Amino acid sequence: MKNQSILAVTGKSVEKFTGDLVVYCAGQQKNKMPLCEDFVKKIIQPAWKTGGFSGKKGEFLLAYTALTGSKRYRKMTCGRIGIVGLGETASSVDEAREQLRLAGGTVAAEAKKCKAKKVLVVLPEWLDMAVVDAAEALSEGLLLGNYCFDKYKEKKGEGEELQPVRSFMLAGAGSAAAMRRGMKSGRAAALAACRARDMANEPGNIWTPAKFADFAEKLAGRYALKCRIIEKPTMKKLGMGGLLAVNQGSDLPPKLVVLEYISDKKNPTLMLVGKGLTFDSGGISLKPAKGMEDMKYDMCGGAAVLTTMQVVGEERPGNVNVVALVPATDNMSGAAAFKPGDIITHFGGKTSEVINTDAEGRLILADALAWGIKTYAPDAVVDLATLTGAVIIGLGHHRTGLLSNNDSLAQRVSEAGERSGEPFWRLPLGPEYSKQLESKVADLKNVGGRSAGTITAAAYLQEFIGDTPWAHCDVAGTAWNFTEKSYVPKGPSGIAVRTLVTLIRQWKPLQ
Ligand code: BES
Ligand code: MN
Ligand code: ZN
Repeated sequence: MKNQSILAVTGKSVEKFTGDLVVYCAGQQKNKMPLCEDFVKKIIQPAWKTGGFSGKKGEFLLAYTALTGSKRYRKMTCGRIGIVGLGETASSVDEAREQLRLAGGTVAAEAKKCKAKKVLVVLPEWLDMAVVDAAEALSEGLLLGNYCFDKYKEKKGEGEELQPVRSFMLAGAGSAAAMRRGMKSGRAAALAACRARDMANEPGNIWTPAKFADFAEKLAGRYALKCRIIEKPTMKKLGMGGLLAVNQGSDLPPKLVVLEYISDKKNPTLMLVGKGLTFDSGGISLKPAKGMEDMKYDMCGGAAVLTTMQVVGEERPGNVNVVALVPATDNMSGAAAFKPGDIITHFGGKTSEVINTDAEGRLILADALAWGIKTYAPDAVVDLATLTGAVIIGLGHHRTGLLSNNDSLAQRVSEAGERSGEPFWRLPLGPEYSKQLESKVADLKNVGGRSAGTITAAAYLQEFIGDTPWAHCDVAGTAWNFTEKSYVPKGPSGIAVRTLVTLIRQWKPLQ
């Protein structure tokens, strides 16, 4: 497992560390020497004086212990010291966490560049935040930043994709137990996000609907989770006309993947639904060729939901049940493909006129949402989908679109996102938008015109929700090409995994 670099807390003294690189942190201060441990100042000073290092975000200063001329450093077994800039003192814990995550990402990148395999990072003693939070955020940044996907390259570790660091150690003044706790939860969430990136990086000819089913079954084998795969014949019996229609043009069978974590029947149930479209050609309403290869990422919602269940399985929260659903198929244009003008019947009986076969995400999600709500009667539903190009026009690649029928759930999701460095922005719903989906021949049509494309897509889903508190996350702009950050590589970002994990860890019943 490539991205499973070792991460541990060391009790040994920094001087005795036998690895390749020891890293300290430095905070930026206005017109003053960066904030750092006193003996680190000796290294920073000449660089600071000449304008080479100020502790700014993303800055990294590399020094060789033999050249520092200081006895203290010459005593160190490790030959290299790095100083990473955190930026100016944060004004909130969320911001401080993001600074450490970014620093972790920078350390991973710089360590790769200087081919360090074993790296020790010293948590700053002057930081104004709990050790558990600091260790968690730093661990996330290190592992997310160390991510690499070179499975299909013969020559590994060349060019941009340098070989990842093999082990990261954390040290510092705080309680080792707190550090370990933070590290463990940061590690779990980050590795799940890396797993989601792996799934997304796999091409459409490899990551098929069956692979989602395999992954879920593996998780169920490893943890206290129950897996159900709903196959095509059952879908037919249940009347899942949306998922079946989208699958009609494909040679691969569709899957509805279900993973259940039941802590106690009496506990509230959170249902997660992720779009698992393993390749979106647009179908008969074919997409243009340019950029179509990116449509292998149309399964990022599904990947996020299942890898979140990996963390749920590991951590077994005691106060909430979690059910994950992934409707999975590709959207192809084979001879039997569904067509514009077709009328389909969703699970539960609502009919829909297909205007555009490229608006397929809402069709597969509608069946999953309706069936999931009927089957599990969840207390809250969160769905994730690369649903509309329109969300990129509205919010760019910096924020996930959030649409909800429940203010307190929307706020929870949004706060969990803020804490995770995955910001959201809420858009409205309302009868004016739902009206855009009125069809002359069916209950609904699957496209509501060019205006408010993200909202009308959500309004389509809303038809299948009833009164259940529900939040829809349109990750089309953030699932890949997410804001450039040290710990987010080009390509799939693993978006929303850490937000969902945070949401579950902090779960309490909705007001
Ligand atoms: N998977 C796409 C949405 C998408 C587009 C994600 C670009 C990321 C980048 C979705 O299935 C789709 O094709 N949506 C259409 C809907 C339209 C036909 C109403 C879109 O956004 O163009
Ligand atoms: Mn589409
Ligand atoms: Zn799609």
